[in-house]
Order: sequence, then C-alpha cells, then structure tokens
Amino acid sequence: MAGIFDKTWQRTSLCGLFTEADAGKEVRANGWVRARRDLGGIIFIEIWDWTGPIQVVFDPSLPETSEEIHEKAASLRNEYCVAVKGKMRIRPEGTENPELKTGNIEIVVRDFLVMSKARVLPFEIGDETDSVDENIRLKYRYLDMRRDKMQKNMRTRSKINEFTRNYLSERNFVELETPMLTKATPEGARDYLVPSRVNQGCFYALPQSPQLFKQILMISGFDRYYQIARCFRDEDLRADRQPEFTQVDIEMSYIVEDDIMELIEGYMKGLFKLIRGVDIPTPFMRMPYWEAMDKYGSDKPDLRVKLELCDLADAFRNSGFEPFRKILEGGGVVRGLRLPGGASMSRKEILDLENHAIKLGTSGLANFLYKDGGLKGPLVKFLTPEEVDKVRELAGMQPDDALFIVAHASRGKACEILGTLRLELGKKREDLFDDRPDNWKFLWVTEFPLFEWSTDEKRWVAMHHPFTSPALDLETPFDEDPEHALARAYDCVLNGNEVGGGSIRIHDPEVQARLFKALGITPEDAKRRFGFFLDALSYGTPPHGGLALGVDRLVMLLCDGNSIRDVMAFPKTQKAQCLMSNAPDQVEQERLDELAIKVVKEEE
Ligand code: AMO
Repeated sequence: MAGIFDKTWQRTSLCGLFTEADAGKEVRANGWVRARRDLGGIIFIEIWDWTGPIQVVFDPSLPETSEEIHEKAASLRNEYCVAVKGKMRIRPEGTENPELKTGNIEIVVRDFLVMSKARVLPFEIGDETDSVDENIRLKYRYLDMRRDKMQKNMRTRSKINEFTRNYLSERNFVELETPMLTKATPEGARDYLVPSRVNQGCFYALPQSPQLFKQILMISGFDRYYQIARCFRDEDLRADRQPEFTQVDIEMSYIVEDDIMELIEGYMKGLFKLIRGVDIPTPFMRMPYWEAMDKYGSDKPDLRVKLELCDLADAFRNSGFEPFRKILEGGGVVRGLRLPGGASMSRKEILDLENHAIKLGTSGLANFLYKDGGLKGPLVKFLTPEEVDKVRELAGMQPDDALFIVAHASRGKACEILGTLRLELGKKREDLFDDRPDNWKFLWVTEFPLFEWSTDEKRWVAMHHPFTSPALDLETPFDEDPEHALARAYDCVLNGNEVGGGSIRIHDPEVQARLFKALGITPEDAKRRFGFFLDALSYGTPPHGGLALGVDRLVMLLCDGNSIRDVMAFPKTQKAQCLMSNAPDQVEQERLDELAIKVVKEEE
C-alpha cells in the first residue's frame, strides 16, 4: 500500500532547481523515479519533475541511510511517484555529471515514501520516445506528456497564451466568451452537431469560429474584442489541422486593413522576442493573392525556398505545339518551374516527377534540359529555334538547368501543381532552401478573390466566409463580375504556413444581401440561417474587421515542431479519435431515446 503524503514529505524545492547552495542542508524532493543504477551495493536513482532530475543515493555505508531503507529502495521502479528526505551533498570527486544542472549535487537519503507505484510502462519516458509509434503515445498521453520535450512544448503554449492576453488587454481589448452551443457559422467545413434533448429533432452546431458573434459584439459597442477561442471543424485532417483547435480571435471597430496588420506585426514582434529571443523585421511584406500564386504557386508561399515559377505563354502562343497552343487559345496558361542544375536528373527521376504531377491534376509535365550548349527535350522538335530561345529567356535558364512545364485550362491549378513541385524539389536542396533556425519569413497575402467556383455545387462560393467585404474600388460591382471580384481579406503567412486570416467585414445590410444573392443564397434561406445576424446588422453597425490566428500552428512553429499534435495536450488522430478516452463512442439506447435519435447501421 502507498504511504500517506503530508506536509512533512512536501518538497523543499523542485528537483531541477536544487543548487550547490543546498549542500549540507536537510531537503525533501518529490517526483518520479527514473534511471535507477545499482553500483556495488549503492543504489542511485534520479527523481524527476518538469525542471529536470536530482540524483538521490542509498548508500548503507553512510550514517544517514539505514539498512532497512536501503533494502526497501531495491523495490523502486521507473515512474513510481516518490518523496525523499535526506541531506544534500556535493557529489564525490569524479562522479559529477556536467550535462545536468544538478550534476554536482545529490541527496543522501534518510527516508522515502512511495506515494504511488507505476505499472509496467508501455514505453520508457525518455526523449527518444518520439520514435515510439504515435498511436501508443496518444493512448498513454499522460506518460508521453511527462517527457521533457512535451513539457517544454505545453509550457511554451501557456506562455504564448499569457503573452497574448497581456498584449491585447494592454491595448484595451476586452476578452469575451461566445457560445459553444450555437447555430452554424460557415467557415467552409462541416459542422459538429449536438442534439438537443429538450428540443427534440433540433441540433446545436459547435462553432467553426466565433465569426458572427464577434461581429455582433461590434454592433453592441465592444469595439475591441478578443478571445482565445475553441473552434470545431469536421474536415479532412492533416499535420496542421485538428477537428478542434484554438484561435486568437480578434475584432475591431472603425478600422481599415492597416490597423489589423500593425496590431499583428507588433504582436509577432513581441512574441518572437519573448519565445525565441529574435527581432523579426516589421512591417511584413505584402503580396496580392495572384502574385503569390503566379510566383510561388501557393497562397501561403514558403519564401525560404528560392525557386519561382514563370509564365511561358509567349513562347507557345503561336507555336507548332498544338496542345499548348489550344490551351492558351481557350484562356488557359502555360507555366514553368526552373530547377537550377536539374539537367543532371535521370530519366527515371524525371518520369517519377511527371507521374507525381499527373496525380496532382495535370495531363503531363513537359521538360527542357539545358545540356551540351542548348535546350533538349520532347517539345524541341515542335518549336522554331526562336521559340526555343524564347522558352530559355522567359524561364531564365542557365546551362545545366531543367525546366518543368504545366499547361492547364485553370491558371490556379497550373500554379498549384508547380507550387507543390517547387516545395518538394526546393526543400531537398540545401542551396535552394534556407531552413536555418530562426529564419522567419512573414508575409501578408492580400487581395484574395471574393469568390471561387465550386465545381461540385456549380455555383460561386465565398473564398473566405460570406461576411467578408468586397474590395471597394472595383470597376465593375462584385455581383456583376464575380470571377474578378476581390475581397478585403488578408492571410498572415509564416514559412509556408497560414498562421492567421481575416478581413474587413460587410457592415451594410444591403451589400450583405447582394453578396448572399451572388452566392445563390435566397433571402428566405439567408433569413433562416443568419436571420439573427442580418437583424443585428440593420441597427447601426460600425465598420469593422478582424482576424483569427491559429494558436496551434503558431505554437508548433515556435517550438520547432512538425505537427500541431505535438503542441496540443490531447489531440485527435487522423480519424478524429481520441485514443486515450476512446471518443467518439457509442451511447446507451436510453440516451438516444431521450434525444429521439435512431442510429441506422450501414449494411455490412
Ligand atoms: P480561418 O478559417 O482562416 O478564419 O481560421 C483562422 C486560422 O485558424 C487556423 N485554423 C486551424 N488550425 C488548426 N486546425 C484547423 N482545422 C484549422 N482551421 C483553421 C489557421 C487559420 O489561419 N473567422 C475567421 C477569421 C476572421 O475572419 O476573423 C476564421 O476562422 O491558422
């Protein structure tokens, strides 16, 4: 049976914070047993907490340690939670461990208490635990989080939240909570629904973001709002996406784009100084959406990769290569990616790259290699020497370079495919990818299209959300030319990650109604879905705008992590399951009856 913990056992210091100044004193330590070693009848163990280890010694030849205590110590196993009492001493010469903060000292144990035992562990708690299967780590998350690295990540997360609160409250932002049980707020994902027992057949939606509520708070006169908000989205999961995640959600009245950008630049400057000790330059670079797509093939370009796309239309417009000419005539594009030194790629490597590009959605990946004094490649025979020269010139090709070309009816798709290859090829090469620590490349992507065409739904859908204001200075009103309409939206991009996004909102009910109409949402539908919001909008709405930062992504980058799962205490798997608590789970029939829900099982 475990002993009783009382004040007389309480630690006099955290384990890793004992110092040489404690030598000679009676001390107590609390923590977990790790790294037990028996050397010639002397037992050494390390006792750990989040500050690190302190070594304790059971040496029966010393007057402090009785035979009985020494014998009892033989039963200690890893991860037992213990308290020890004893005298701190300087380690005997030659036994110091310079790698530990407490490597010069140790506690000679007088007595100890096992507060609770641990079963045989599914994995050892050491920093090499990253090599343990992630599903095992997630199932035993409580053990995984005892690790140094996870402790550091979670504590950095807490520090970031603390900084956020200080930064925003110093600037007169009011922290307000918006409901979790609410009505659908569209952000482009599916909703998680919660059935209501007292209103059978009715469902709450968990918020995809606090978007509508924060806008209503502006209407209510809280002209500067923020919340460290939980959001829920039922969407395909990846390393940077979780079904429930956290945003720093911000909204302000009487502002324009610059105000939000300056606020966030100041925030990032302070945050990166605090967490990484670096000065990041501000203001951040700004780049219109189409410039980002044309140059980097992405709306969240990683500027650490030194490769750019090029436009090859002028070389192919009148060329004898019919497939490309036809695509251009039909309004499509011919775009290229130059890979310095790529001419030495083998045929197989080029073929693999083409197959990969085809999987990404092109019918082929043409190539030119600059070898033996000229461009070589399957298309050369269809082009005049002047056209070949034009290709070389437009792509800026140098001897030994390769050029990969996508022709596509859609400008966006062609850019996106080459943008993927840009990252994959660039990140493999040291000379093309500057991934030194603290090389932070921030960027605002602006002037997003207001709409994008949904081939599934065969209608225009909002690229951000349908409350984003159209750009004001359009020649043609947004609803007359949806294809070219621009939005007053901006994304904050960092090293290829979208760490935040926001917009100036519509504050005029008439514009909002026109926007819904352009989206094919009927007035009845709009009233049913957002009636409360449209009502609110019609009672004197200040011009307003805001943004939300993805906390998990930001913490991941600041912790040098590869996945947001490593900076969340209890993340879910790719299949949106919590392996520790086994959620989602089936529920008893009675619960379903109360909710008037019938589960129809799919036929095997
Ligand atoms: P948006 O949908 O762009 O905007 O979300 C803002 C930021 O939240 C992060 N994010 C995610 N992080 C982890 N898992 C996810 N599934 C996930 N989805 C988004 C991203 C993203 O940049 N209401 C608007 C904001 C506004 O307009 O003010 C919104 O939610 O870092």
